[in-house]
Amino acid sequence: MSALPDARRLLDEAAAAMGNAHAPYSSFRVGAALLTETGAIFRGANVENASYGLTLCAERAAVAGAVAAGHRRFRALAVVAGSPHRASPCGACRQVLAEFCDGGFPVHIASASALDAFDTRTLDELLPHRFSLPTTRSRRSHDETHQDLCSRHQRPPA
Ligand code: THU
Repeated sequence: MSALPDARRLLDEAAAAMGNAHAPYSSFRVGAALLTETGAIFRGANVENASYGLTLCAERAAVAGAVAAGHRRFRALAVVAGSPHRASPCGACRQVLAEFCDGGFPVHIASASALDAFDTRTLDELLPHRFSLPTTRSRRSHDETHQDLCSRHQRPPA
């Protein structure tokens, strides 16, 4: 068992994910690690494109991977950038997090060269007054019910 606190361990995962960044245009490498309610960790890295606007941020890559694997409930996110200063998630990534996470959701942010000097912000701090549809919350719980039903069907017969 690691003696590191949860935030620091998640930051290690994000730093490892940063190694897979595809950032030939900006040379700005970012890694993310998303902890699910069940304890699984999904990594993401920024994936740039010759058509610059198609670039995918590390945070959204992590969310997409987790959701595609059937996870909708998350405990924390860590974001690590290869620059000397901490890179806070961009506005688009904050809104994507708001689709799945409540206001108290913690985001740990660090530079790869100083993982111990991380900063933690809640989603409320990062994106106050965020956009939501009246149905966002109820759709979230509907999806979870749907998922429960699906996993029951996928269970092998006893
Ligand atoms: N980037 C992220 O991966 N996450 C953010 O929250 C902000 C920016 C990436 C996109 C691009 O590949 C590079 O950083 C420079 O903008």
